[in-house]
Amino acid sequence: MNYKHALTSPIFQVVSKSADELGVDCYVVGGFVRDFVLERGREKDIDIVAIGSGIELAKRVAKNLPNSPKVQVFKTYGTAMIRHEGVELEFVGARKESYNEDSRNPIVEDGTLEEDQNRRDFTINAMAISLNSATYGQLLDPFDGLQDLTDKCIKTPLDPAITYSDDPLRMLRAIRFATQLDFEIEAASFNAIKEQSHRIEIITKERINVEIQKILESKKPSIGFILLEESGLLQRIIPELTDLKGVDIQEGQKHKDNFYHTLEVVDNICNHTDNMWLRWAALLHDIGKAPTKRFSKKVGWTFHGHELKGSKMVYHLFKRLKMPLNDKMKYVQKLVFMSSRPIVLAQENITDSAVRRLVFDAGEFVEDLMTLCEADITTKNPYKFKKYHNNFKLVREKIIEVEERDQVRDFQPPISGEKIMETFDLKPSKEIGIIKEFIKEAILEGIIPNEPEKAFELMLKKGTDLGLTRADEK
Ligand code: CTP
Repeated sequence: MNYKHALTSPIFQVVSKSADELGVDCYVVGGFVRDFVLERGREKDIDIVAIGSGIELAKRVAKNLPNSPKVQVFKTYGTAMIRHEGVELEFVGARKESYNEDSRNPIVEDGTLEEDQNRRDFTINAMAISLNSATYGQLLDPFDGLQDLTDKCIKTPLDPAITYSDDPLRMLRAIRFATQLDFEIEAASFNAIKEQSHRIEIITKERINVEIQKILESKKPSIGFILLEESGLLQRIIPELTDLKGVDIQEGQKHKDNFYHTLEVVDNICNHTDNMWLRWAALLHDIGKAPTKRFSKKVGWTFHGHELKGSKMVYHLFKRLKMPLNDKMKYVQKLVFMSSRPIVLAQENITDSAVRRLVFDAGEFVEDLMTLCEADITTKNPYKFKKYHNNFKLVREKIIEVEERDQVRDFQPPISGEKIMETFDLKPSKEIGIIKEFIKEAILEGIIPNEPEKAFELMLKKGTDLGLTRADEK
């Protein structure tokens, strides 16, 4: 079968010419071929395999390109990379790997194309298109990856036990591809993943993260998280989530399954945002519920303080997964911590002051918090569903209204500490804090608008109540 039409980028002609000059066979393989067939439109990274030295081929390609780009050589891996017009071209020599029974270390030797295809992860990633001029565009698909693309099936070229054992990260990759592409993992493959799930422990957190991140970037991440749970992998990577699983019943009262509820929230939020960190907040918003769950005869199931507990757990989880401990984490923590606030607010009468406090506390994240809370509505009762959404609509309208009037989002006290000290001829003292807090509370409660004149009047009044005398009256 000829796939010349996949090779529209002029770079392929340069690779072809270079390979012919060196007399080596070479092919474009992996994700490029898969995504071309799936019409996923990607030309950002292209993997080239040479039957010979990938590094030599890369050097020749660079020489033949008009601007002779730099070749980055990774000697340990025997690979080389060129960046050209926003495309990353990765070159590797075909390899066969065999495993000595007594040792985990592979014996890497030069191999044929077929041997190289054998040791790739999935049949859909093992297709190759020839780039040499004599066979330009020819598709080499020994495991019928094309058929698996049509069947939407994730399958390994070799016995799955071997493929996953060679690189246990592939267990996560299988689930990630199933999620991104909405494919099924072949039963034998999934069983092998279940059997080997413990081996994920030998994989670095950084590589694991890439896959989790890609699952979370997908249209419907629940597909991936359910597979992760069923395979036993989730328990080893994010046990905070599997701890949410299950429904307890006592005295005839039960609570919802917070694991599946969480996944519904994540899927919901993905329809409204591409912000990865907001998606993380959705995934983690209820993790504090497992350790705070209590039952009392009077009120039934409670999760008191789960928001604070959850936000603290976010830190430990990020640290363990070697995720950034920076303002992104703080953002996730804040959203988890505040995740119940709008719901409580929307269940009661929505007052201006409650909305003002919400904007004050959430600051610049208030819209994201609203998006999270809207996604959190998973009730199957259509009456309640509508009611909550309508209430949140009202809250959003009120946020705009209150914002226009009082600007409490980035609250700057309308009266500074210096002004208070100057007015009452004070040295730094606790009275200053008391007056500032009093003014802030009055603004949030709507007693005065957020204006310097009104705040000044209130300051004078509070100062007098505290027994202070104005400097100009002394
Ligand atoms: N590969 C593999 N085993 C891995 C990683 C990669 O066999 N653990 C092979 C696959 O043939 C894959 C190719 O290397 O197609 C390139 O890997 P990578 O760039 O990580 O993935 P892509 O398939 O290109 O897909 P994506 O860019 O979506 O990650």
